[in-house]
Amino acid sequence: QVPGVVLNNGVTVPQVGLGVFKVPDDATQQNVEEALEAGYRHIDTAAGYYNEAGVGAALRASGLHRDEVFVTTKLRNGDQGFESALQAFEDSREALDLEVVDLYLIHWPVPSKDLYVETWRAFEKLYADGAARAIGVSNFLPDHLARLLAETDVVPAVNQIEVHPTYQQRATQAATLAAGIAVEAYSPLGRGADLDHPVVAKVAAAHDVTPAQAILRWHVQGGRVVIPKSVNLERLAANIDVFGFELSSDEVAAIDGLDSDARLGSDPATAAFSQYPS
Ligand code: A2P
Repeated sequence: QVPGVVLNNGVTVPQVGLGVFKVPDDATQQNVEEALEAGYRHIDTAAGYYNEAGVGAALRASGLHRDEVFVTTKLRNGDQGFESALQAFEDSREALDLEVVDLYLIHWPVPSKDLYVETWRAFEKLYADGAARAIGVSNFLPDHLARLLAETDVVPAVNQIEVHPTYQQRATQAATLAAGIAVEAYSPLGRGADLDHPVVAKVAAAHDVTPAQAILRWHVQGGRVVIPKSVNLERLAANIDVFGFELSSDEVAAIDGLDSDARLGSDPATAAFSQYPS
């Protein structure tokens, strides 16, 4: 069983979940079913991934009780705005075939459209109505967070951002944590690119684990929630098996030292509506 992280509203999220970004809808059901079989209890999707239906089908097929699995989805950029966000939530809920979403995130701030504060008001309503057990943001930089905190009421539970050894976003992590918001790391393995680093290989060998497990353990010890993606059964199972060993402070420092501004995703300051089309 994967340990949980308690969010600022008391809701608990399993620290390792399955991310399904780039998994095609027709492959998602099998991927998620295998993950649930392997012991995952946290699935991270988005309207913009176009695979919410596959996630929902897997949840039903698994026979697990609704309360046993934590499900996150996200608002597509083109659906920002008060009424459109409420409508988009209904669409996601229908695609997932769920009454309640565990965590609903604004996918990107899209500062050029200046709608994220208004959008957050819709999220606050969904939260107040109990349609989402927790609400949060994704790809928010410190200035976006500061504005949201200054102009709205509910503090986001989560900021989901790109974090991996070669792209750590320390200033954004610090601003997130200072506000009592949990950091979730997406692309935690650097989409596979950080797995070949010799420093990672050395840490992994010292614990007789794989490079992916060494990196995921580094995230876990850093207190982050992680959502590695894998469509391979063996790697799926390995990625949640990271609670039986511990990195030394020197090993953590060695991986900390790999930070090199190697962003793989879009730049949150400029990511546009077209990023995840409506
Ligand atoms: P695959 O889906 O074939 O397992 P990220 O989560 O940072 O986006 O990284 C996902 C990438 O890393 C995918 O290409 C995935 O490939 C690969 N990957 C995931 N888990 C492992 C693992 N345990 N060992 C090696 N590669 C992995």
